[in-house]
Amino acid sequence: MDVPIVDLSNPNEDLVARAVVKASEEWGIFQVVNHGIPPELIRRLKEVGTKFFELPETEKEAVAKPEDSVDVEGYRTKYQKDLEGRNAWVDHLFHRIWPPSRVSYRFWPKLPMDYREVNEDYAKHLKKLSEKIMEWLSEGLGLRREALIEGLGGETVEYLMKINYYPPCPDQDLVIGAPDHTDVNGITFLVANEALGLQAFKDNHWIDVKYTTSGIIVIVGDQFHRMSNGKYMSAKHRATMDKEKTRISWPVFVESSLDHKFAPLRELITGEDNAPKFKPYVYKDFKFRKLKKLPLD
Ligand code: OGA
Ligand code: NI
Repeated sequence: MDVPIVDLSNPNEDLVARAVVKASEEWGIFQVVNHGIPPELIRRLKEVGTKFFELPETEKEAVAKPEDSVDVEGYRTKYQKDLEGRNAWVDHLFHRIWPPSRVSYRFWPKLPMDYREVNEDYAKHLKKLSEKIMEWLSEGLGLRREALIEGLGGETVEYLMKINYYPPCPDQDLVIGAPDHTDVNGITFLVANEALGLQAFKDNHWIDVKYTTSGIIVIVGDQFHRMSNGKYMSAKHRATMDKEKTRISWPVFVESSLDHKFAPLRELITGEDNAPKFKPYVYKDFKFRKLKKLPLD
């Protein structure tokens, strides 16, 4: 059993759209290939991010998350424990890449020199791909193609880049890179370096996600699970660390702005059989409650 792969270059768009919808219903995680983002751009994205993490610690501190910041942007090292008490640790960098009004270049690395150009280019390409997939997913709900984008906030939807840097770890029993979770946002697009480690939980098993060099992993998050009134799965996933290799991944989280209120899409709530399964939430409250492990209904 493998995570579905959808080839977006298939000229039969209906077929492609249906494969994306099916994968989102059954898995909530899938890989897209021949997605239109140039492989060379993806290679460069990984190159500039890797070079940043290889800089001396003092250089990286230039874009550190400020102590008093209530936002996620910036570079930091994080230690955490998973449910079984295993230590998890990872360095990461967060910065928004879209919309331009929400971009703070102070959190974008100055080095390597082409970091900014490559990330801006990636943002433009990824936004196109993301909107295409959101349109297919809206149609898969029997709705207008703009339905999910609008429900997420339309023009105010944000794209948040994260780079996860997992150093090699000889003891696999002790350390896990990212404990199991579902993503809190609408939908996530992830690329990673050659060290495998992403796993998805399906039918009570952890399954290794085998991505190709320029394939993109798509993960449906909590917001789309709720906005689709439960039709789309938010995939439970985690990241393990490699014994010898450094693993780096670049998820981009597509999400509402913090003050946006989201809920099961109104057009879906028709008749008695389709009562809303979830309460509306302002996104920042939803994020906060999830982070604090408070009940969410
Ligand atoms: C995440 C995540 C997985 C990975 O950052 O939300 O799921 O492969 N990362 O690094
Ligand atoms: Ni995740």
